[in-house]
Amino acid sequence: MGLKVVILAAGMGSRMKSQIPKVLHRIGGLPMIEHVIRVAQQLNPEEIYVVYGHGAEQVQSAMQHHTLRWIHQSELLGTGHAVQQVLPYINAQDQVLTLYGDVPLIQCATLQALLDQQKQQGAALLSIELKHPTGYGRLIYEDDTIAHIIEEKDATDAQRLLQEVNTGICAVNGQNLKDWLSQLDNKNAQKEYYLTDIVHLAYQAKTPFTAIKVHDPMEVSGVNQRKQQAELERTFQKRMVDNLMEQGVAFADPARFDVRGTVEVGEDVSFDINVICEGQVKIGSRVKIGAHVILRDCEIADDVVIHPMSFIEASVIGQHCDVGPYARLRPKTHLAGQNKIGNFVEIKASSLNKQTKVNHLSYIGDSHIGQSVNIGAGTITCNYDGAQKHQTHIEDDVFVGSNTQLVAPVCIKKGATIGAGSTITKDVTSGALALTRPAQKEIKGWQRPSKKRLDVSKT
Ligand code: UD1
Ligand code: CA
Repeated sequence: MGLKVVILAAGMGSRMKSQIPKVLHRIGGLPMIEHVIRVAQQLNPEEIYVVYGHGAEQVQSAMQHHTLRWIHQSELLGTGHAVQQVLPYINAQDQVLTLYGDVPLIQCATLQALLDQQKQQGAALLSIELKHPTGYGRLIYEDDTIAHIIEEKDATDAQRLLQEVNTGICAVNGQNLKDWLSQLDNKNAQKEYYLTDIVHLAYQAKTPFTAIKVHDPMEVSGVNQRKQQAELERTFQKRMVDNLMEQGVAFADPARFDVRGTVEVGEDVSFDINVICEGQVKIGSRVKIGAHVILRDCEIADDVVIHPMSFIEASVIGQHCDVGPYARLRPKTHLAGQNKIGNFVEIKASSLNKQTKVNHLSYIGDSHIGQSVNIGAGTITCNYDGAQKHQTHIEDDVFVGSNTQLVAPVCIKKGATIGAGSTITKDVTSGALALTRPAQKEIKGWQRPSKKRLDVSKT
């Protein structure tokens, strides 16, 4: 009784020149078919059928997080033949929507309009007017009624001049689809069973197709080649960036920003050029993101500044933190707030309480660091003994001098001081100074070695 969506995805996509099945090539970081499935799901269908042929295992395993019905088309005998494979699962009262797995930018509102039109007026399709319609099926009208779709290869020169073409996306009632698809033949230039031939059968049955014209060609563009993929990628990115600008985000250059996932933002967020956001990125208000920053699956609170060239992954950054340039925050980094992370600092699986600073050239791994701690330049937590990872604990108000190694497991108690250049292997008590470097000595009047002068006259 309900809506059934059929996604055609059996094509091999040989013009992509790739081992990867065509519908798994990505737009905005997601496989093309993922976009199509997501938009289909927004229509609340009873079932989504995917007609597959090539690369079955790869496509199925990439889409296993969805509930889909997989329909195998063993031989690619045309779009009509592809939809025929789904007929056993279609009821007479169903509404059937056909989509293409390689047309990823189709919008929900457009499909909703198509479904409404089908309900009110019978069979409906999406068409588009193109200045250069080469390759597409042309809509042939008789007395303002769509009577045929003629494929490019079957068209006369006069028909090829027609600019209103079939997008391939259509909605038909189940009974009609069953009746019409059973009458298809393959007597045409490509010896294929054309889905588009049902248009003439509908006309003969006096239940003709009506068309809804789509205005943005990118919405119904398919990907057959890398160049088209790149064009669709730009269109997708423009949609994302336009949406963010509507929410008040400032971009130094909207053409140099890429989203491969979702970005949530507060007020007055700004991005300098060449920022990439991947996965789920959540950003608070008044956050400044510098040039060439990569944010992957992270949460950034209000008033944070991320300086250029930083890479932040699966981390949580509290309010008023200042990170980078050239900082690398690896998964499970948690900065409580007002932290300063400077250049060439790598942090992994560590929490830093408020106001703690790691300003230069350090590695902090598997560590819990208290409040108002200062980690000097070149400090390394030696968290790995070659077999196991160990934890470092540093309590509040500790001062770690430069060029210190903290050999884990180790605990530096509250208010302790570590002298520069120390290798700390034992716990340090609260308030103590720990120092492991040898005492400084002097040799008075030290003569530096001098270079011997070559006597040229004796050679
Ligand atoms: C089809 C339409 C044409 C329309 C154009 C829009 C037909 C006969 N023609 O032409 O009117 O203008 O799309 O792009 O329908 N597929 C299968 N199994 C098959 C054949 C195709 O699953 O046996 C899938 C492909 O993977 C693709 C889609 O159907 O996703 C369209 O197939 P394609 O061969 O690209 O159709 P066109 O010749 O471009
Ligand atoms: Ca095509």
